[in-house]
Amino acid sequence: MLALLHPFVRGDLAVDENAPVLLVNAVVVDGLSALSHADLSAWQCWRGAADDLTTSGVRVSVETTPAEHDAVLVRLPRQREEARYMMATAWDRLRVGGFFVVAAANDSGGGRLYDDLSPHLPGLQEMVKHKCRIVWVEKTDSMTLPAAWIEGGKIQRQKETGYWTQPGLFSWDRVDNATILLLPLLPNNLSGIVADLGCGTGVIADYMLAKNADLRRVLCFDADARAVEIARMNLAERHPGREVECIWADLSKPHAIKPVDLVVMNPPFHVEKAQAITLGQAFIANAAQMLKQNGVLFMVANAHLPYEQDLAKHFRNVQKLHEGHGFKIITAQK
Ligand SMILES: C[S@@+](CC[C@H](N)C(=O)[O-])C[C@H]1O[C@@H](n2cnc3c(N)ncnc32)[C@H](O)[C@@H]1O
Repeated sequence: MLALLHPFVRGDLAVDENAPVLLVNAVVVDGLSALSHADLSAWQCWRGAADDLTTSGVRVSVETTPAEHDAVLVRLPRQREEARYMMATAWDRLRVGGFFVVAAANDSGGGRLYDDLSPHLPGLQEMVKHKCRIVWVEKTDSMTLPAAWIEGGKIQRQKETGYWTQPGLFSWDRVDNATILLLPLLPNNLSGIVADLGCGTGVIADYMLAKNADLRRVLCFDADARAVEIARMNLAERHPGREVECIWADLSKPHAIKPVDLVVMNPPFHVEKAQAITLGQAFIANAAQMLKQNGVLFMVANAHLPYEQDLAKHFRNVQKLHEGHGFKIITAQK
């Protein structure tokens, strides 16, 4: 993010007082003050980052509106189709004469950034800073980004399963191996309320609804607004009439709900590129807090991740149901 702001901090680029500026996939950093005189808005699907931006006074939306901006700044994600979709969508939100600025970490697509964009954007400038590549150009009438970049990154069907999905979501083009191991070990014939933490496309919730005809309600949580919408689409299509609620929530923080009977999860263990078990630990704490007394947790995790202490802290009867193919499946009772 600091890299993205660098051309403004260094004075290569500037925008007028109150100029509409769109931040794409942005996070709050100190350098944001370099643009504090502008009219900042953000397109940010991740709940934690969106909340931080809102607290800093930036207007946040999980979709881009067709408004034209004087500058569009894109903090590029690693996944290629997602990155191209983001750039092409953001490009359409920029007025002719406005600045298009993109930054990517050298090891997360930065290396290919100039080559990807320069055939379409003559005059593209490049700079290296903070282990990132930063490129920018002033938009002219004749410049355009490929329509295929929008097509390739939009909501689409997963080829093998028919699930709605979108590049950038976890395991967007196939069902995850850990999830495949977890599904057959989940209980049948439940009648209460189930929470799916970190629901992604909704594959676990879909399985629970299919195998538990009397299930009263399923709650799906994800920090990525795209996942929340796509899980909602998948579950509405596959289980019309069933009671499902999909909730945009950052479970790295405590999230209170009315108690549920069962929690199921394949928790994330990366924060950006760095491995972090703190996120899984927060999911375990949330699961414990959400469950009724005697409620049950089912989770799958990479075999090497040391969640046992946290599970023992919040649960009793912690049992490993299966270990293999690099994963472990654990159940525990509150
Ligand atoms: C390992 S994936 C599992 C997805 C899905 N349940 C499956 O089995 O395919 C973890 C999910 O957690 C979501 N996630 C990541 N950080 C989160 C957070 N802080 N709060 C809530 N969900 C988060 C991700 O968007 C992702 O969909």
